[in-house]
Amino acid sequence: MSVHRHPLVDDSLGLAVQGYSWFPGRWRRSPDPDIMHTRLMGKHAVGLRGPEAVRFFYDESHVRRHGALPEPVRGTLFGYGAIHTLDGIEHRNRKLMFLAGLKDPHRVGRLAERAGQVWDSAAADWATQPRVVLFDATARVLTRAVHDWAEVPLDPADLDRTAADLTALVDGFATGGPRHWRARRARGRLERRLAGVIEQHRAGEPDDSVLGLVARHTETDGRLLTPERAAVELLNVLRPTVAVSWFVTFAGHALHRWPELRDPLRDGDLGYAVAFAHELRRFYPFAPFVGGTAVRDLTFQDEHIPSGSLVLLDIYGQNHDSRLWPDPYRFDPDRFLGREPGRDELIPQGGGDPREGHRCPGEDVTVALLSTLAIRLARLDYEVPGDQDLSISLRRIPALPRSRVELRVTGTGA
Ligand code: HEM
Repeated sequence: MSVHRHPLVDDSLGLAVQGYSWFPGRWRRSPDPDIMHTRLMGKHAVGLRGPEAVRFFYDESHVRRHGALPEPVRGTLFGYGAIHTLDGIEHRNRKLMFLAGLKDPHRVGRLAERAGQVWDSAAADWATQPRVVLFDATARVLTRAVHDWAEVPLDPADLDRTAADLTALVDGFATGGPRHWRARRARGRLERRLAGVIEQHRAGEPDDSVLGLVARHTETDGRLLTPERAAVELLNVLRPTVAVSWFVTFAGHALHRWPELRDPLRDGDLGYAVAFAHELRRFYPFAPFVGGTAVRDLTFQDEHIPSGSLVLLDIYGQNHDSRLWPDPYRFDPDRFLGREPGRDELIPQGGGDPREGHRCPGEDVTVALLSTLAIRLARLDYEVPGDQDLSISLRRIPALPRSRVELRVTGTGA
């Protein structure tokens, strides 16, 4: 066993400045391909990648989540007391609620269908406008669709503001600037409104809606979640569904760069659309990494990890590791044609078993929405005006084409 290395220099600033480019730089300097040591937020930290690292990281006797998430992330992206911060039986029990709402193929199908309907009626309107920003337009479509599907009331007059608030939560979690403060204010507004919605729902008859599942969910002590905590978890369904807008925007980017991908999507081949969705999730930068705290002194591949260290699983790095993905910087949906991605290989939404650990319960929803909307986007008649900046900075978390992909829609393609 090699002696563990205690780097002295804190690299938090490097991470903040370099964003998605930080990990690749660290890997280049690391003597080991799947584990590296550094310091972050004043703590010893290790970075891990690879399927073996996924299994190691998602073993609860190795890594726990409680206390690991920095306050700015809880105050914006996830909310206080969210499932992301729980461990053990409390986590398992809370997860049941999400699995019931998000892993049922009928419910997932209904959400994709609703999103398709809202997209189709919005597309008719896009054709009357000089330009449409794909990111903003998709966020409005998904905001409307997920509220209808979850049976959460949303006045049409509040749609634009709510879509902007839901995307602000994601946009502002990894920065200290104005985007961050916008996210905090958005969270305050959304949580207040949704706590009221939960109370109202509880005053009526129980039902089988996603709102109903959250409103009636009981903790391990048999008590209902407080309205505020239930609002946090309802937002943990609404917010990430609307965040699929990032990937739809990346789809617009991909179809512009590689127009030959449009035809198989236009044909409506669902197998191809699913492969396209997987490749979008693998290729484009979104969730950079996930992290927790070492429960005790640990050993990974003969390397010592001291108890209390921060342990980070490098999502973006693993999704671009040439040992798993030949020619990883080539966008190629064919990688996934006719095959399911390996559980611990493709990890844009975490790894392991979603029933056992923290892996995202929303992957089926993400893939269903993306495949449905990618087909519609490919069928839309549009031009991509040349006077926009489509570059994607890897320093900005979350990344997005700078212009958010502006389209001049000339026909709905219907
Ligand atoms: C957890 C990514 C969509 C609900 C996660 C995690 C990641 C992630 C990286 C953390 C995994 C971990 O901590 O180990 C994404 C991405 C999405 C997406 C990139 C695409 C936009 C969704 C959707 C939903 C959802 C559509 C629900 C409708 C959740 C929840 C958790 C979670 C509730 C917490 C799970 C837990 O702690 O057990 N997601 N997600 N996500 N995601 Fe997603």
